[in-house]
Amino acid sequence: MPALSKKYAETSRVHWRVTWVHGATAERQSEARDLAALLRLEVLRPKDASQWLSEARTRSLLILRRDGRPAVRPHGEKPWVWHLGMAKSRLAALRAGQPDRLVRALSLTGEDALVFDGHLGLAHDALVVAASGARVVGSEIDPVLGYVTECGLRALGSTGAEMRAIVSRIDLRIGHHLDVLEGMSGRFDATMFSPMFIAPDFTSPDMEAWRRLASHAPLSPQALAKARQCSERVVIKVLKEEIEHLPPPHRLEERDKRRVV
Ligand SMILES: C[S@@+](CC[C@H](N)C(=O)[O-])C[C@H]1O[C@@H](n2cnc3c(N)ncnc32)[C@H](O)[C@@H]1O
Repeated sequence: MPALSKKYAETSRVHWRVTWVHGATAERQSEARDLAALLRLEVLRPKDASQWLSEARTRSLLILRRDGRPAVRPHGEKPWVWHLGMAKSRLAALRAGQPDRLVRALSLTGEDALVFDGHLGLAHDALVVAASGARVVGSEIDPVLGYVTECGLRALGSTGAEMRAIVSRIDLRIGHHLDVLEGMSGRFDATMFSPMFIAPDFTSPDMEAWRRLASHAPLSPQALAKARQCSERVVIKVLKEEIEHLPPPHRLEERDKRRVV
């Protein structure tokens, strides 16, 4: 399990309690208590948690499970657990020697490239970039989502040597990407941003919970300026109609009729 550290010592913007699944080991229960103390949240026993959650739509639960990947129920949504999603097929394609559009846009050269991911989210992009050989420092603003992703990455890392090596190249930071960038010295070979789409062209009930967790704030001109100052290249994943909010890019790559890099 992840070593709990001070980086989680911020409460999330939503109203959370921490619990564990029925029959969880004493170790998992004690981890729930440590996590709750760090996030300054209350702990509920499983039998009280469902009742508490059902009393108001604004309530949210983080549930520690046996396999190490917690489930989240922001605003009472159906339980959601971190998974590889589309990164699974992107990793398989990379393994088969097919180029990944994002990796190509980052134009990384050399084995030891360093990439900053200003929107870590579920770390799907970070995993693909790390699988291409780069090291990634990724920031996620929401501490609960950051915790869920870190647990997901650890679970993935325990599935075999290849994944362990990929995951070990990802350094997860909790915080606003501008603060994280300002706290770091040195340069990045590339920075990538992938803000939440304003009007996504897909709806997946499975992703509803994490969309509620994620911050939908647009990329600020200050963060973009800072990234340009400390990186060789900046790559932004957006929908075509959202591009007007950004300075004109040097290069545009279309993935399909709405998505661009
Ligand atoms: C579209 S998702 C990124 C998905 C990610 N690239 C992946 O592959 O899983 C955007 C994520 O960035 C986070 N976020 C939004 N604003 C942020 C900021 N200023 N600093 C750090 N993270 C931020 C959101 O909470 C959300 O998890």
